[in-house]
Amino acid sequence: MLKIGVIGCGTIGKEICKAIDSKRINAQLVGVHDKTAENCERLLEELDNKPEILPPSELISKADIIVESASQAAVREFGHMVLEAGKDLMVMSVGAFTEPGLLGRFKKIASDNHCKIYIPSGAIAGLDGLKSSSMAALDKVTLTTTKNPQGLKGALYIIRNKIQLDSFLEKTLLFEGSAEEAIRGFPENVNIAASLSLAGIGVKETRVRIFIDPAISRNIHEIAVEGAFGKFTCRIENVPSPGNPRTSFLASLSAIATLKNITEPLQIGT
Ligand SMILES: NC(=O)c1ccc[n+]([C@@H]2O[C@H](COP(=O)([O-])OP(=O)(O)OC[C@H]3O[C@@H](n4cnc5c(N)ncnc54)[C@H](O)[C@@H]3O)[C@@H](O)[C@H]2O)c1
Repeated sequence: MLKIGVIGCGTIGKEICKAIDSKRINAQLVGVHDKTAENCERLLEELDNKPEILPPSELISKADIIVESASQAAVREFGHMVLEAGKDLMVMSVGAFTEPGLLGRFKKIASDNHCKIYIPSGAIAGLDGLKSSSMAALDKVTLTTTKNPQGLKGALYIIRNKIQLDSFLEKTLLFEGSAEEAIRGFPENVNIAASLSLAGIGVKETRVRIFIDPAISRNIHEIAVEGAFGKFTCRIENVPSPGNPRTSFLASLSAIATLKNITEPLQIGT
């Protein structure tokens, strides 16, 4: 049975642990770790089969796969340790890979140690079609995100351009540029832009448009891809997680689905 260790006992980590506990994933939860011990303890209260709370090195030695559901800092802190120990790594804070060279280094260590790095689809859909279409020439990948103004509060781009978010009364285009520029200006969007860029044509070529719309409560992402295969579009309206409105519920579900894929004999989809 696959032995899973979880680093990061917040919104996503909790959903993953509950899925293992309720046997939705056929695996054993061998331990958890969080920089805030109380977060581990609060999580354990919700589980019937309580895993050990372990320091990272011990957790890594006991697990077959480490799930990072913590932060970009945790990816940089523990990622290489996991792969150097020959253990698989699943990364939720995929924005960490916008740091030049980090993913290349991780891939080299993974290849040298015969292990894998998994990046779930997170809060978006369409990565399956994008991966398939990238096997031939891709011309264009565009992400259009529409959020309630509250969802963009505190973004660097908003502060730098002195944008008054409550002054918008209807849907308005706020930003248009490369994924690289979007990641710098809107760190909240970093995971989605990073996953899309990694699966497709990179941060410089992937285009991002950000609209604000005071009439909506869900985060809406539309992905449009054009290439030798033809073209496709897909649209996701995300419900926020009850525990953390910045994290879409779909992100937790994608982590659970990825782990389920690893444990099951049948894999559907690209
Ligand atoms: N790939 C995607 O589409 C996607 C979607 C949503 C969230 N995310 C990312 O997933 C990560 C987890 O999201 P969440 O909503 O569960 O966050 P959360 O804030 O609810 O929980 C994170 C937990 O990790 C712990 N943590 C943070 N840094 C740590 C470190 N260095 N070492 C150990 N523990 C640490 C925190 O104490 C907290 O308990 C975030 O980085 C978030 O940006 C990715």
